Amino acid sequence: MLVTEADIAASIREKYFSKFGNNDGIRTFRSPGRINLIGEHTDYNNGFVLPASVDKAVYFVIAPREDDQVVLYAADLDQTYSFSLDDLSKPAQSWAHYQLGIVEQIQKKGLNIGGFQTAFGGNVPVGAGLSSSAALECCLLFALNEMYGLNLDRFGIVKMSQKAENEYVGVQCGIMDQFASAFGKEESVIRLDCRSLEYEYFPFPMDDYLIVLCDTSVKHSLASSEYNTRRLECEKGTSILQKYDPNVLSLRDASPALVEAHKEELGDAVYRRCKFITEEIQRVQDACNLLVQGNLPDFGKKMYDTHFGLQHEYEVSCPELDFLVDQTLNDPSVLGARMMGGGFGGCTINLVKKEAVDAFEEKMKKAYLEKYAIDLPCYKVKITDGTGEILA
Ligand code: GLA
Repeated sequence: MLVTEADIAASIREKYFSKFGNNDGIRTFRSPGRINLIGEHTDYNNGFVLPASVDKAVYFVIAPREDDQVVLYAADLDQTYSFSLDDLSKPAQSWAHYQLGIVEQIQKKGLNIGGFQTAFGGNVPVGAGLSSSAALECCLLFALNEMYGLNLDRFGIVKMSQKAENEYVGVQCGIMDQFASAFGKEESVIRLDCRSLEYEYFPFPMDDYLIVLCDTSVKHSLASSEYNTRRLECEKGTSILQKYDPNVLSLRDASPALVEAHKEELGDAVYRRCKFITEEIQRVQDACNLLVQGNLPDFGKKMYDTHFGLQHEYEVSCPELDFLVDQTLNDPSVLGARMMGGGFGGCTINLVKKEAVDAFEEKMKKAYLEKYAIDLPCYKVKITDGTGEILA
């Protein structure tokens, strides 16, 4: 059965009604999860990324209240958390941290909102590396911006959502996820320069090939601590390279040759991190040129290069991800495959010939079941528009 966007929005509206007893003054907003074709761990190094927003999204059905209470109803979990606008202390329910983080950012900016009540939910798989958290943040802030006329533009929404994640949730993420959720465009990937914030849409042809995500269904506990460690290693590399070239303010400003020249001083681990990042930043540029030429086979090879770099040099992969990528290596129906997102679990992203997609999924599911006794979820994703209001 096909579940459309309108079906999901309607089901959350129904849940809102059962929770709050009326639908007075409601509006519905949608914010998608994201994929990233290439350019991993480059965002916080001021490099390039190539994400897109997909047809898995979160939805907020929301209305203002007369008082200063906020009532959050997590429709998929059937759980409620309420708080007053003057008490943003951290509750045990971690799902509420994103919304509290947004309210905190609004207050830090000196902007005013009243109370509100909302039912939210959707179909972004949680913990799969599709950034359900960024979708939650962008969706709520976009909604409050519309309801209370906060005058924020899309970049304002992206930056405040990222800060909510950095400051309230405590994850030192870069800007890619929130940007992709807010700026996505149907059938296009977006190259974002994370230093200047200039961006460009590239059409992504899905006539002959589809994007299939294979979800390891694991999230190793290392994920957020190692993420923060990688950031520190990149900063260490930057400060060493800066001694030789004062223009190096981040790894974006360094070349693979500069990294190579200072290999010994960088030390093994930092050297390999810097090598990967400087090469990956260049790889996004090369991959975009290939897209423009319509050369998807070579684009796919770059995806494999990214995976091997993340596996051996940046060391953020895990056995389950490597296993899934290995299964595709001699498969002529797969142009490219790699781990996607922060790493240590989540999904691989695969570029697969359209007519071979069913056989591909079947093969991957069988292999994963045999190896890990896990039924592998596979998602065919379509690239859709970013955050917006759904007008019923
Ligand atoms: C996570 C972070 C992003 C980005 C990716 C890796 O998804 O939230 O900012 O750093 O990892 O590319």
